[in-house]
Amino acid sequence: MYEALRWLDVPEAFRQPLVESMPDPDRTPELWLALQETCSVLRGDIGSLTSSQRWPDPPLSQRYFYFHAFLTVLPDIRRWHAEQGVSDQISQATLADLGTKVTQLGKQNWLARHFHGSLYRLGRLQFDRTPDGVLEVHIPGDGPLPPSACDESFAQAAAFFGGEYSRAVCHSWLLDEQLRDYLRPDSNIIRFQQRFTVIGDPVVADDDVIEFVFGEGATELPRETTLQRAIADHLAEGRHWHQRTGRLVIRS
Ligand SMILES: CC(C)(COP(=O)(O)OP(=O)(O)OC[C@H]1O[C@@H](n2cnc3c(N)ncnc32)[C@H](O)[C@@H]1OP(=O)(O)O)[C@@H](O)C(=O)NCCC(=O)NCCS
Repeated sequence: MYEALRWLDVPEAFRQPLVESMPDPDRTPELWLALQETCSVLRGDIGSLTSSQRWPDPPLSQRYFYFHAFLTVLPDIRRWHAEQGVSDQISQATLADLGTKVTQLGKQNWLARHFHGSLYRLGRLQFDRTPDGVLEVHIPGDGPLPPSACDESFAQAAAFFGGEYSRAVCHSWLLDEQLRDYLRPDSNIIRFQQRFTVIGDPVVADDDVIEFVFGEGATELPRETTLQRAIADHLAEGRHWHQRTGRLVIRS
């Protein structure tokens, strides 16, 4: 199991606690049974674009429950990726999102997308195949977002998904046009915005913005970067940040 945890980029400090808390038919029979049931649904969902998983309520779904479930079905999704011709490198880059989320609770429905095979990380960006034939673009928060890396990711997506998906959509606070009042026109966020045509109405997303800019559950809003100052000043004026939907063509 340690090898799988390394492959998933699980931070070292969490590896032993995860192994030691793995449900066991003798020590924790109720939890073990819940895990088997959950894994059987996860396995059944592989290859589907939606998830039918209903996660058990606490206390069965203790801190690492969903992590143990994804870990248990790791060989199944890796086998399926290989059958689909997904390279080991893409498989690892995709599934290692689990390792980055080990400190966060409540991410199981997000991670189910990776583990039923709809979402892939291709370079800097993630792409999720939706049932309506559009790719949803997601932006992992693990480094800057230079335009060249995005170009590379979209080119990879065009090749990876072939002609099957030509339209992409992004629902994000990063597409809020109000950011243009605060960030430089050549900042990565503004240049990312310029790829998309914004559609639909704005949706208030102050909590999302606070999570992505100051961290989950942040109560203090430090003003260390241009963006942090922008977010905090805007909110202090009683204004809101919005999630916007943008679309683009990735292949014509
Ligand atoms: C998207 C992201 C990678 C862009 O970062 P970036 O490439 O540095 O973006 P920019 O070049 O436009 O940054 C402009 C300024 O904002 C700051 N900034 C950008 N994103 C920041 C963040 N999440 N937190 C704090 N400051 C941030 C930069 O440091 C820079 O400030 P500076 O000029 O004072 O140094 C980054 O915001 C991020 O990691 N976000 C979390 C993931 C996310 O929001 N995903 C979308 C979910 S819907």
